[in-house]
Amino acid sequence: MRFITSIGDLHSVIAALRGAGKRIGFVPTMGALHAGHMSLVRKSKAENDTTAVSVFVNPTQFGPEEDFEAYPRPIENDRRLCEQAGVDILFAPAAGEMYPGGYATYVLQERYTEAFEGEIRTGHFHGVCTVCCKLFNLLKPHRAYFGHKDYQQSVVIRRMVRDLNMDLEVEVCPTVRESDGLALSSRNVYLSPEERSQATALYAALRRAEEVFQSGERSVAPMADAMRKVIERAPMARVDYIAFVNPETLREVRRVESEAVILIAARLGRTRLIDNLRLTAK
Ligand code: PAF
Repeated sequence: MRFITSIGDLHSVIAALRGAGKRIGFVPTMGALHAGHMSLVRKSKAENDTTAVSVFVNPTQFGPEEDFEAYPRPIENDRRLCEQAGVDILFAPAAGEMYPGGYATYVLQERYTEAFEGEIRTGHFHGVCTVCCKLFNLLKPHRAYFGHKDYQQSVVIRRMVRDLNMDLEVEVCPTVRESDGLALSSRNVYLSPEERSQATALYAALRRAEEVFQSGERSVAPMADAMRKVIERAPMARVDYIAFVNPETLREVRRVESEAVILIAARLGRTRLIDNLRLTAK
């Protein structure tokens, strides 16, 4: 595996691969890799000649009150996991390499970035779009792999790729969960044992809404009420939002006839967790 930290070195490696006609799969991450990331790596390896992973805790997607400094950075462990998984390129630049002095250009996306995570984390998606655009320009992948857990992010990235005519496919892969349903996230390490046990309420609430939907309910209000009742059993959880949205437009719906995605975000102590579930009528 090549471990690359400089853009100059990356350019020559990517140019050689592209010149040799290799198809490049790319998994962008902020590190602290877990089984969710590794499932993206496996998919990329199955579908491409070369798999590249980036590990970069992107400062522009964190607000001033957020956990940029505290975000876990176990780079040696990440490097070992990538090596073991057969990753070909691990790109781990320093912040100054990606945003050198005088940096002034950002990708701003309207509409899809304004609600939910975008409303609570002002500027978050501008940072995400900017860094993904830069990483796509650098790695020149044929395909890039994202997790379904960050559902709004996956819609935003697909939109950016379409709107800016970027020449790659975006693949969105299933959420990987602990055996009790908690979606894997690098932020789960922040949870105290009590918070960790109550964090299962997010997925339990999503599953409860699905049960209500599959029993024939089509109005969102009773499904959302059923979710809130589940969350009440986890007194440490503070819900930021529960929203039933059109899977493509992210517009909120009041009824679900055939398909919708339920988005949920909640805080347990100082940790914010997000999850989602796709409803599809049987
Ligand atoms: O999902 C993430 O880990 C990040 O938002 C991403 C896509 C790597 C951009 O920094």
